[in-house]
Amino acid sequence: MQRVHDAVGVPSLEHHVPLERADTKRVKARKRAQLSALLGAASSFARHASRIVDVGAGQGHLTRAASRAWDKDALGLDREASFVSVAKDLALDHRVDFRRWDAFHEDVALEASDLVLGLHACGEVGDVLVKRAAEAKARVLLVSCCPQKVRAEFREPLSRAGQNEELRLPRLVLGLANLSQLEQGVESSLLDTMRSRQTRHGMRILLQHRGFPVRAGEEMRGVNRRRAYKGLPTLAEAVLAFRQLPPASSAELADCERQALAEYGMMRRLSLPRAMFARLVEVAVVLDRATFLQESGYLVEVSTVFDATVSPRNLGIFAAPSPVGKAWR
Ligand SMILES: C[S@@+](CC[C@H](N)C(=O)[O-])C[C@H]1O[C@@H](n2cnc3c(N)ncnc32)[C@H](O)[C@@H]1O
Repeated sequence: MQRVHDAVGVPSLEHHVPLERADTKRVKARKRAQLSALLGAASSFARHASRIVDVGAGQGHLTRAASRAWDKDALGLDREASFVSVAKDLALDHRVDFRRWDAFHEDVALEASDLVLGLHACGEVGDVLVKRAAEAKARVLLVSCCPQKVRAEFREPLSRAGQNEELRLPRLVLGLANLSQLEQGVESSLLDTMRSRQTRHGMRILLQHRGFPVRAGEEMRGVNRRRAYKGLPTLAEAVLAFRQLPPASSAELADCERQALAEYGMMRRLSLPRAMFARLVEVAVVLDRATFLQESGYLVEVSTVFDATVSPRNLGIFAAPSPVGKAWR
């Protein structure tokens, strides 16, 4: 496992800058840490741009902070009207504008002097971002996430090198990138997460015993996933009520808990190799995008821009068209 980690290691470019107080309003601690690291890592890279275009800007936290830190006009684009509306409310600065825009169905006018940003631009939005930026010869700073969020069953490689290597990844494989490699869970402890998974397995067993076998994940249909953290009796109550099935008896619950305990440890061990692929899949997608930009005449650097505890989706692509790009740092 360590050897796979080492093989996909990406050098770190961590350099935090303090955020202005006005830019931290309604921004959660983890997002603040991401913003401060990204602004620090890209400050000299951003100098050469005359405008920032933030793709998948969400509520515009990065757009605002980048505009202020780098003293530039900024445009934030997002598909969700509610995010755009919050972003507009929070943008007190006249240099920042937000617009509703769907990456899959609308064009966007980019200039060669733009810096196109994407912080956790999910899945296919990241692909659209690099393609549009390359057409305009604009600079790119992209931190990718959720590679499985693609409309087709497969993600086609953007780069010629990726096409030659047949780096055509199915959505199921892309989803492996989200498996956590951390000692600690992001929302809860690993122990609690494992217990909740065992509980969910117990729930599947219960449904199977009742004559309703379901695929993994399907047992939670109609029920908040956090219910699984409360143990099988609580989860079963909600799941059976949702499915309009009679409540479980204590003996039935105890029986399913016993079977889940016996099976879950084995399932965990068998699934270990899946986790080894997480970083590999992520790095493959990021390098395909980076290579596409390189093939399009860019100078490209890929760096780890913040700590995995702040967000495991932390690989940044910095790309500037050459020869201007020679002075990008
Ligand atoms: C993970 S969030 C990141 C938001 C923000 N950049 C941040 O770091 O806080 C991804 C954003 O991409 C937006 N998005 C998803 N699909 C999109 C599309 N097709 N066109 C434009 N925006 C999209 C979502 O609405 C969401 O705000």
